Amino acid sequence: GFKLPAMAPPPSSEQPDAAAPGAGAISRVLVVMAMEKEAMPLVNKFKLVEAPARESIFPKGAPWTRFYGIYKDLHLDLVMPGKDAVFGVDSVGTVSAALVTYASIQALKPDLIINAGTAGGFKAKGASVKDVFLASDVAFHDRRIPIPVFDMYGIGARKTFAAPNILNELNFKLGKLSTGDSLDMSPQDEEAILSNDATIKDMEGAAVAYVADMFSTPAIFVKAVTDIVDGDKPTAEEFLNNLISVTAALDVAVTKLVDFICGKRISDL
Ligand code: ADE
Repeated sequence: GFKLPAMAPPPSSEQPDAAAPGAGAISRVLVVMAMEKEAMPLVNKFKLVEAPARESIFPKGAPWTRFYGIYKDLHLDLVMPGKDAVFGVDSVGTVSAALVTYASIQALKPDLIINAGTAGGFKAKGASVKDVFLASDVAFHDRRIPIPVFDMYGIGARKTFAAPNILNELNFKLGKLSTGDSLDMSPQDEEAILSNDATIKDMEGAAVAYVADMFSTPAIFVKAVTDIVDGDKPTAEEFLNNLISVTAALDVAVTKLVDFICGKRISDL
């Protein structure tokens, strides 16, 4: 068969061939999460440590936080938008998610992004509390611009990176994700979510997808259902009641995903 010339460098996971981006084994994985309560069990599971402020990759003044470490063969970075400077709560939503994703891509040049978090689910579309979904598509439901073409820009629907082997091997459900900056759902949001054909709704996914696409970084969206949007319980109450137990399910799912990714190439996913 085919023989490598004697001088050919050995295949290396550290330095994939620059002429063939994504050809080597996945080395750097960036996990983007919005809420500390969701992220800390993973930080502990992967034995990540917090990057000290004095050697931050982020500009001074940004509340964004980063935990990092080596897990098996992977360089893992888990970033969060951090606490709001005024209110002290997690900086959930699209603005902060886009910013921390942008800064992390610039500084870390990840091979792959995983956006993990919780979501509301629609039982009419087959979602139940504690289900873990991969998003096949993302779109916004609160960017209404009723002018031709701007309307489609606002919705920003896009397919996510296709990972057929992850879907075949791991037990995730598949559904479309709709993103907006509200936890609750106005009638106008509802109309847009229906039109987006979404099974789940969150507050970051489409924003992370926008930035990931901008820099051609494959991104996977893993969302665990904390509340049923078309059920009879008030969303905020159901979300808070289920957050801890659903976070456990999310963390199991992300661990399975990272274990699967380990040693693989982007094209193996
Ligand atoms: N995250 C968890 N539940 C959600 C919901 N109902 N809407 C938006 N984001 C969520």
